[in-house]
Amino acid sequence: MCNNCNLNIDAEQTDEFGQKLLEIVNHSSLSLMMSIGHRARLFDIMSEMEHASSSEIAEKTSLNERYVREWLGAMVTGGIIQYDPALKTYFLPAEHAALLTRAAGSNNFATTMQWFSVLGSVEDKIVDCFREGGGVPYTEFSRFHEVMAEESYNSVVCGLFEYILPLVPGLEEKLKAGIDVLDIGCGSGLALIEMAAAYPESRFKGYDFSQESIGRAKQTAEERGITNVFFQVQDVSQMNAANSFDLITAFDVIHDQANPAQVLSEVNAALRTGGTFLMQDIAASSNVEMNISNPLGPMFYTISTMHCMTVSLAQGGAGLGTCWGKELACQMLKEAGFNDIDVHELPHDIMNYFYIMTKT
Ligand SMILES: C[S@@+](CC[C@H](N)C(=O)[O-])C[C@H]1O[C@@H](n2cnc3c(N)ncnc32)[C@H](O)[C@@H]1O
Repeated sequence: MCNNCNLNIDAEQTDEFGQKLLEIVNHSSLSLMMSIGHRARLFDIMSEMEHASSSEIAEKTSLNERYVREWLGAMVTGGIIQYDPALKTYFLPAEHAALLTRAAGSNNFATTMQWFSVLGSVEDKIVDCFREGGGVPYTEFSRFHEVMAEESYNSVVCGLFEYILPLVPGLEEKLKAGIDVLDIGCGSGLALIEMAAAYPESRFKGYDFSQESIGRAKQTAEERGITNVFFQVQDVSQMNAANSFDLITAFDVIHDQANPAQVLSEVNAALRTGGTFLMQDIAASSNVEMNISNPLGPMFYTISTMHCMTVSLAQGGAGLGTCWGKELACQMLKEAGFNDIDVHELPHDIMNYFYIMTKT
């Protein structure tokens, strides 16, 4: 006999919750399969095909037919891909391709699906942290910098010239004339490389403490023949670069920091008077109750537990977490010396706020 039999529980509510759990099981499964669809370029290639059999899709994608057919089974039963049982053919509707292919740019959800297996790669270590405290360092994550580069291509590079830089009045003219720009925690450097290519008179620096990501950034800049960008392995909590830059950017970086307060003070010190700090950070509140209606609430807290918070705690850091939120962010920016703070939401990026501060 079950332990709950004597409890007065609402059977209808339990059924409803059971339905929700079923959906979670299926949606979690789909997220993994969609990540594979992205990595194996199945969505990209199917978006250019008419109705086709699994053999035709396998041939066109140069993949194993048996695996492709099983993947298609998940996609058909999950409502991602259409199936014609009479002809045994599969079809990716254009409306779905518009949200699942590399051509979709910032609308490509399939890029984001990759995070769940990246996070899964450290699950055992995270469970240990639940028991013993501490954290899991960046180096333990499989494919972190690769997936981060793709994600930030979508959320930063795709909106850089149309939405992000125009947030700062007069910035484009200054960049054209020639200023000093620093991107802290630049990762694979894609945003900086795009800016350096667009504004040859300006000088660009990218700092990150990851050898791997700085190596990737240097290689991309070299391959593209861009010479006004310089990448360096550097801990941004110890820059000692007073009055050196006119623009400092931080794309999805501050909440991961071991010592975020110190980094914000270093940024303030490194800016010249009149210079701008442009910070992209997660669009959440510091209060959990305010995040219940956030369409990405569960994902933010998951990615925080399994990455952003834990990498900070692994360094003995503050462990702010992904949902440090707008309230705490504004308070910490003020404490670091930034008096005017403008917070913007942009149409190409529902995950982030864009904070603009001018050094007075
Ligand atoms: C979430 S990733 C964002 C990377 C990049 N801005 C982008 O949008 O792709 C955070 C980056 O900050 C770097 N990072 C974290 N703490 C740092 C520190 N104290 N000094 C330098 N880099 C740091 C990490 O190595 C990682 O590349």
